[in-house]
Amino acid sequence: MQTLDFPNKTYSKILHIPSLGLGLVLLICLASPTSSCTEQEKGSLLQFLGGLSQDGGLAVSWKNGSDCCQWEGITCSTDDTVTDVLLASRSLQGHITPSLGNLTGLLRLDLSNNLLSGGLPQELVSSSSILIVDVSFNRLGGELHELSSTHARPLKVLNISSNLFTGQFLSSTWQGMKNLVALNASNNSFTGQLPTHFCASSPSLAVLELCYNQFRGSIPPQLGSCSMLRVLKVGHNHLSGSLPDELFNATLLEYVSFPGNSLQGTLEGLHFGKLSNLGTFDLGENNISGKIPESIGHLRRLEELHLNNNHMYGELPSSLTNCTNLITIDFKSNNFSGKLAKVNFSNLSNLKTIDLMYNSFSGEIPESIYSCSNLIALRLSSNKFNGQLSEKIGNLKSLSFLSLANNTLTNITSALHILKRCRKLTTLLIAFNFRGEIMPEDDMVDGFENLQFFSVDGCGLFGQIPQWISKLANLKILILSNNQLTGSIPAWIKTLSNLFYLGISNNSLTGGIPTALMDMPMLNSDKSEAHLDPRAFELPVYYGPSLQYRVPIALRNVLDLSNNKFTGQIPLEIGQLKALLSLDFTVRLVKQ
Ligand SMILES: *[C@@H]1O[C@H](CO)[C@@H](O)[C@H](O)[C@H]1NC(C)=O
Ligand SMILES: *[C@@H]1O[C@H](CO)[C@@H](O)[C@H](O)[C@H]1NC(C)=O
Ligand SMILES: *[C@@H]1O[C@H](CO)[C@@H](O)[C@H](O)[C@H]1NC(C)=O
Ligand SMILES: *[C@@H]1O[C@H](CO)[C@@H](O)[C@H](O)[C@H]1NC(C)=O
Ligand SMILES: *[C@@H]1O[C@H](CO)[C@@H](O)[C@H](O)[C@H]1NC(C)=O
Ligand SMILES: *[C@@H]1O[C@H](CO)[C@@H](O)[C@H](O)[C@H]1NC(C)=O
Ligand SMILES: *[C@@H]1O[C@H](CO)[C@@H](O)[C@H](O)[C@H]1NC(C)=O
Ligand SMILES: *[C@@H]1O[C@H](CO)[C@@H](O)[C@H](O)[C@H]1NC(C)=O
Ligand SMILES: *[C@@H]1O[C@H](CO)[C@@H](O)[C@H](O)[C@H]1NC(C)=O
Ligand SMILES: *[C@@H]1O[C@H](CO)[C@@H](O)[C@H](O)[C@H]1NC(C)=O
Ligand SMILES: *[C@@H]1O[C@H](CO)[C@@H](O)[C@H](O)[C@H]1NC(C)=O
Ligand SMILES: *[C@@H]1O[C@H](CO)[C@@H](O)[C@H](O)[C@H]1NC(C)=O
Repeated sequence: MQTLDFPNKTYSKILHIPSLGLGLVLLICLASPTSSCTEQEKGSLLQFLGGLSQDGGLAVSWKNGSDCCQWEGITCSTDDTVTDVLLASRSLQGHITPSLGNLTGLLRLDLSNNLLSGGLPQELVSSSSILIVDVSFNRLGGELHELSSTHARPLKVLNISSNLFTGQFLSSTWQGMKNLVALNASNNSFTGQLPTHFCASSPSLAVLELCYNQFRGSIPPQLGSCSMLRVLKVGHNHLSGSLPDELFNATLLEYVSFPGNSLQGTLEGLHFGKLSNLGTFDLGENNISGKIPESIGHLRRLEELHLNNNHMYGELPSSLTNCTNLITIDFKSNNFSGKLAKVNFSNLSNLKTIDLMYNSFSGEIPESIYSCSNLIALRLSSNKFNGQLSEKIGNLKSLSFLSLANNTLTNITSALHILKRCRKLTTLLIAFNFRGEIMPEDDMVDGFENLQFFSVDGCGLFGQIPQWISKLANLKILILSNNQLTGSIPAWIKTLSNLFYLGISNNSLTGGIPTALMDMPMLNSDKSEAHLDPRAFELPVYYGPSLQYRVPIALRNVLDLSNNKFTGQIPLEIGQLKALLSLDFTVRLVKQ
């Protein structure tokens, strides 16, 4: 009988205890005021709401009568203390009231991507609970407060980027931030020097972003004592002086970037070997001189190397071959020279972008470049490369952007036959080469099916506008200016239905202006699909010394027929072209 009795007892226990528990829970919910956020917290939040001139609909749920833990954007802990105020991207306008600093359990405050103005209340930065403050992308301004006492604050992440803050970065502001891990103050108007003792007060600092401000002076060597620092971005300020070697004591650095400053000096003698974690090194647009040191080869993890727009010179060091993880090399606008052959590009198979434009490299393009099978963009323009293009460039099956313009390459017929094997090519710029050769006439039907931008100007080429161009169905921009082409504008030109930029000025073209031109779809519509193509060029295209076009849509509709030997009438229809933004031939036509 015992065996029957026993299960019965268990049954009653199971039934009884949970039902009692449920009753208790219900009782607490109905009777106890501690199940809701406190009146004080509610008051602090309602004060914040009151400071908004545009609340993005918050007031609908933020009602005094209800539990503020249930309000939109509010999260509470299990004991009903407000822990999170998360109100990013809600079109909030108005001021941030200091009352939020009275939420004594607040851990995270996210007001990013709104239109808030006024200052950042000191109470938030010096709060004794908040870990994360993100007020980025607003219109907050004024200076950061000096914090009166230096007691340790728990704040770990402060993102005040993309606002209108001004004034200096005073060490007194940062002294109490003993726990700061990430500071993003980019894209404001901060002035003065970088604080020297950041990491003495914030030893945990791992991310420091101060781009797009007006900081001056030199890079403090003391940053080297930031032993936890991984990301250091201070681009687009007015920093001067040289890169201190002490910085390389911060051996965890993964990202070092100072583009767009006035840094001087050379990289020689810097202890690159210490930065074994470095993935990005960007000193572009400064005033760095000297050579790239052999020691760069120690950066085995390097993926991005930007030294563009400086005054560097000399040959590239052979040790660059050791940086086998490189994805991007940007050395444009320096005065590097020599044959490139010291670098064995065969080992750099991860490369996707090589930009060596505006240097003094000479000799033939090294064959080893053609084993970088992942290459998407290759720009060797404005150097002194010579010789014929190698067959092997056809191995670059991912290549989409190729600029070889302004070198002294020869044999355009051979070059085009080889290049048509790069089936992904969308941009091919070979202007200012092949001087005085003949424009190949033979059929290239099978190639260049993806070509959108083709420029062969300034070559002094003889011959005619070749028939094979009519097969380039995706062509949007065609520039054949500054050659010695003869014959007339072919009637098939109107079949290039995507073409919106045609430059054939400075040739010896004859005949009348064909009415076929007037039928070109691009010239009749300003809502062309080509113009709306959002895809960017892999590299910004430079045209002339200063203009640069980043996307095809930035180029306007242009029909440039100037300086030819056309005869006859300007077709009446010209005046009816709706979409033509730039038309350059009438004046010169009249002069003839
Ligand atoms: C919210 O309600 C309480 C109690 O009803 C009241 O004391 C308080 O003033 C109200 N707060 C606001 C901001 O209306
Ligand atoms: C914060 O709370 C204190 C006391 O609870 C009060 O005196 C003070 O006015 C509050 N501050 C704000 C900005 O609401
Ligand atoms: C603000 O900065 C922090 C730390 O760098 C980052 O985690 C957060 O995503 C940033 N906020 C925005 C809106 O980008
Ligand atoms: C800088 O801030 C402005 C205003 O918030 C924003 O429009 C712009 O995109 C930001 N620029 C960058 C580089 O983040
Ligand atoms: C830092 O701020 C800048 C400008 O607002 C932004 O572009 C960048 O993504 C931010 N960095 C992080 C890690 O959120
Ligand atoms: C930091 O770097 C400098 C120069 O490279 C060196 O002399 C110094 O000993 C280093 N300091 C520490 C603490 O490693
Ligand atoms: C660049 O550095 C050189 C010294 O290396 C200096 O003479 C020159 O004035 C600097 N140029 C700029 C624009 O800062
Ligand atoms: C580059 O690698 C080679 C072969 O592994 C080695 O002999 C050379 O010392 C390395 N150079 C640098 C600067 O790391
Ligand atoms: C660039 O380097 C070449 C070759 O080393 C040299 O002849 C030339 O003078 C340099 N040009 C400038 C502007 O420094
Ligand atoms: C370049 O590297 C490749 C692959 O590691 C190797 O086969 C080739 O011999 C090297 N070329 C030269 C000239 O060292
Ligand atoms: C051609 O390249 C040379 C050498 O880099 C440069 O000085 C010149 O400005 C370039 N010409 C054009 C039209 O870009
Ligand atoms: C151009 O290259 C082709 C193929 O390599 C060759 O047959 C031809 O002779 C070359 N032409 C000139 C003028 O060198």
